[in-house]
Amino acid sequence: MQTAWAATVAVDKCAAVDALIPCYLSLTDSEELALAKAPSCAQIGRPERPICVPPADLPQRRAVDSAGRAALLHAIAHIEFNAINLALDAAWRFHALGALFVRDWIGVAIEEAYHFSLVTEQMRALGVNYGDLPAHAGLWKLAEETADDVLARMALVPRLMEARGLDAMPPIFRGFQGIGDKPSLRALSVIARDEIRHVALGDQWFRSLCAQQNLSVAETYRGLIKRYQAPWPRPPLNEAARLAAGFDAAELAVLKAQ
Ligand SMILES: [Fe+2]
Ligand SMILES: [Fe+2]
Repeated sequence: MQTAWAATVAVDKCAAVDALIPCYLSLTDSEELALAKAPSCAQIGRPERPICVPPADLPQRRAVDSAGRAALLHAIAHIEFNAINLALDAAWRFHALGALFVRDWIGVAIEEAYHFSLVTEQMRALGVNYGDLPAHAGLWKLAEETADDVLARMALVPRLMEARGLDAMPPIFRGFQGIGDKPSLRALSVIARDEIRHVALGDQWFRSLCAQQNLSVAETYRGLIKRYQAPWPRPPLNEAARLAAGFDAAELAVLKAQ
């Protein structure tokens, strides 16, 4: 896991994550407790390219032509690459929560690496490699800010940012459907299916941490979004996916009204 966390080349990181597949489900508490303390979030391995720029400096990406399609796929690949790092970082940094926690987030990292490979394969067919285009600079900010608080990390990374990803899926699907790009649609359908489970894992761990500390789930969640000045869920929410991931209707109604 440490090798994957530190890898700075995307293909090396994915290979190191794939190397965890045969063993991660048999990880026990005694093994995971032998992990050293995770280094600072700032040291996580990432490639020199793509060049990361503020989101306002990125061009609008719509799948209307092959350049737009490649740009949109590149943006998704960047999200998936960061998602590999986010899952590895959660598994290592908060390993004191036990082997079940570590297995859950290594499992997510394995799926994120698969998503990255699915998306980059579609990009390559359009002549673009990961790193060729500029990318969103802000995806790692919440990880750094929540490095000492697993309750906030679970709330703001899987339960907020990955859930916002569920909301973004329907229009992206419609865009690729509109241009008849079936291979990209197939890749995205695998991603959408898995992402519901990633949000569900974040929801389950957040709920269990709230229960341990006698905290209200919905109020604590909204309080953390405000405290960290994180982006609110943006309507229209993908209610079916969010309900499948563990949100309840009452909390969704409050989030829609924010
Ligand atoms: Fe993903
Ligand atoms: Fe994910």
